[in-house]
Amino acid sequence: MPVPELLVLFGSQTGTAQDQAERLGREARRRRLGCRVQALDSYAVANLIREPLVIFVCATTGQGDPPDNMKNHISQMHKVVLRLKALVHPLFNFVAKKLHRRLLQLGGSALLPPCLGDDQHELGPDAAIDPWLEALWEKVLGLYPVPLDLPVIPPGIPLPSKFIFQFLQEAPSTGSGELSITSSAPQGPASELQPFLAPMVANERVTGLQHFQDVRLIEFDITGSGISFAAGDVVLIQPSNSAAHTKQFCQVLGLDPNQYFVLQPREPGVPCPPGLPQPCSVRHLVSQYLDIASVPRRSFFELLACLSPHELEREKLLEFSSARGQEELYEYCNRPRRTILEVLCDFPNTAGAIPADYLLDLIPQIRPRAFSIASSLLAHPTRLQILVAVVQYQTRLKEPRRGLCSSWLASLDPQQAGPVRVPLWVRSGGLVFPETPGTPVIMVGPGTGVAPFRAAIQERVAQGQTENFLFFGCRLRDQDFYWQPEWQKLEERGCLTLVTAFSREQEQKVYVQHRLRELGALVWELLNLRGAFFYLAGNAKYMPTDVAEALISVFQEYGGLSNSDAAAYLASLQRTLRFQTETWA
Ligand code: 2AM
Repeated sequence: MPVPELLVLFGSQTGTAQDQAERLGREARRRRLGCRVQALDSYAVANLIREPLVIFVCATTGQGDPPDNMKNHISQMHKVVLRLKALVHPLFNFVAKKLHRRLLQLGGSALLPPCLGDDQHELGPDAAIDPWLEALWEKVLGLYPVPLDLPVIPPGIPLPSKFIFQFLQEAPSTGSGELSITSSAPQGPASELQPFLAPMVANERVTGLQHFQDVRLIEFDITGSGISFAAGDVVLIQPSNSAAHTKQFCQVLGLDPNQYFVLQPREPGVPCPPGLPQPCSVRHLVSQYLDIASVPRRSFFELLACLSPHELEREKLLEFSSARGQEELYEYCNRPRRTILEVLCDFPNTAGAIPADYLLDLIPQIRPRAFSIASSLLAHPTRLQILVAVVQYQTRLKEPRRGLCSSWLASLDPQQAGPVRVPLWVRSGGLVFPETPGTPVIMVGPGTGVAPFRAAIQERVAQGQTENFLFFGCRLRDQDFYWQPEWQKLEERGCLTLVTAFSREQEQKVYVQHRLRELGALVWELLNLRGAFFYLAGNAKYMPTDVAEALISVFQEYGGLSNSDAAAYLASLQRTLRFQTETWA
């Protein structure tokens, strides 16, 4: 029987599932099996019926949601959009399990039981995936033996790189290999492939100096962009590496940042990365494209080991890429959040010998970051505002860890000479607000969770919707009480009821959920008699569960429901989109 081509379809949010899918592709190629690796959403579902062997790799995000790049696919398969933002169910690998059941229903037969990798596991998802892959290859090669004259490519030998770099002798005459980043008039709506380069017009710290966190209100001018959005929508921002990191990376790898190259795919038909201009400068590639500030994955060490000419370094890298080295790799890399750039500095003899051709196999692409939009076009036409907490934390490494996007945004100075431009585009968000006039909304948004509600309140007030109830929580009223004067004016106009919980102004912590319980009678009346919509946004750690529990106890106390009926009531609100959440890590 001829060896069929394997198809690996992935649905990935943060890149972990994509990484695993690509690993499958590499392992297949080492075994001389043909293999395509594709994002689920770029695959026509109707063709599935003709595929002999398909492996699905899918992540589960947030509260049991499918990743963005498989949402269309999932909805086609299930006919109904999965909107299961459940709070209390065990949602571990929810999407994978559901997809598996559906594939069986459709008449597919499973080669193996599904493998449920766990990102939260000490050793990462590989703990479950390694043995599963062993079993998979045994099964596949048993079914479709590969001809003996094609030996397996052993792990120490690198597979050919996906692209070939052709360096140019001179810079292109137009002087701009960075066309995609310097042109500001997009044709068609701004998107990932063609972001709008929005001038940043404000970048203001909105937390007091005693507050532990630097939170910024950032404003962009979107005049002429064609960008439009509604309350609940999200803006995606494509960050860059700092000039210092870009320079350091080029130094360690011995690359000239001013040199230009064109990319050529090694195999015909493989598209070049659409986000990269051609020709492109090394500086552009490193600063705009390569995610050198991310924590490297195991595949990075595997390839680096193959490329290393230095015996000691190679030995260490091989250990990090082996199954038994995973605990040590975790301690070295994941726990302290060591970055790709830092690892390369630790392995200088290897870094200096990396052929440019392998850069795109080795280092993932910088991914865009999503922020809830905090302003409404009805209140601020031509403007888009976000609230950004600058991520910074300490590990045992000397340098504090910084979030790439938030610290990059915070570092930009809109007052500097010449406009500061940020690549962005918008997508409809997870929160949808009711259009029926007279429907009250209850919004619970502690901390930066208040951002989407500021947009919603501005929009609703402009539309004459005055029944807006906002529960806001922060530490101290003079440190992190965002938009206080604005709320006060709206209250005076009778357009807003604001309930605050200042957690650190008294001995005992007071949180938004305490206020919800205190105002239980009102909350119950609004939900039960007035058909109100309830929204929750903010940090995903404990707050969402705490608020859901508070609601359930309100339903019990004021609605006279039993515990299970109260939970069922909350679930019915979720089903009808009258309880919606947007949470982030
Ligand atoms: P804390 O930092 O004093 O504990 C915004 O971050 C606000 O949310 C702060 O006042 C913070 O309080 C509070 N917060 C922290 N954990 C919370 C939880 N589980 N539920 C609700 N609010 C919480």
